[in-house]
Amino acid sequence: MDLMFHGVVILTMLSFCIASSPNSVYFVRMYVSNAVGDNIVVHVSGKNGEDDQGNQTIYSDEEFDWKFGVKLGTYYKGEFWWGSKYASVGLFNSHISCFDGDIFRVQRCYWLVNPDGFWYNKHNATFPGEWERRATW
Ligand SMILES: *[C@@H]1O[C@H](CO)[C@@H](O)[C@H](O)[C@H]1NC(C)=O
Ligand SMILES: *[C@@H]1O[C@H](CO)[C@@H](O)[C@H](O)[C@H]1NC(C)=O
Repeated sequence: MDLMFHGVVILTMLSFCIASSPNSVYFVRMYVSNAVGDNIVVHVSGKNGEDDQGNQTIYSDEEFDWKFGVKLGTYYKGEFWWGSKYASVGLFNSHISCFDGDIFRVQRCYWLVNPDGFWYNKHNATFPGEWERRATW
């Protein structure tokens, strides 16, 4: 009886996943906030150039966000330009965890770009707190 109930729950969850998206296990909305005190340009793209977001200017104190489905091997990089400075940063990969355990909710992830580098947090918390620097300019 109990086993059957679990079977039904799992089947229901599976069909929900398959119906909502054929490949993605869950969805993430990634925010990139610009705190360098100047406009920057970011070019976000996925694995093999898929889901290319094009060049986006992020004005000072503004943010850029995009949403994507996550499956095994999902990867996004961001190329950043700040004046004469350039950096290429892995914005999403298997080392970046935004997952809170609820596949039915869009997960949120935050990057903060400041003159010291590229900081990451699962929550849009007060800086520096638990923000982790993952790259520099
Ligand atoms: C994106 O912006 C950078 C910096 O301004 C520039 O060097 C690059 O050529 C641009 N790429 C495209 C595809 O417009
Ligand atoms: C993060 O929090 C700050 C301060 O409350 C707010 O100004 C900003 O818009 C938030 N950013 C995002 C991406 O939600």
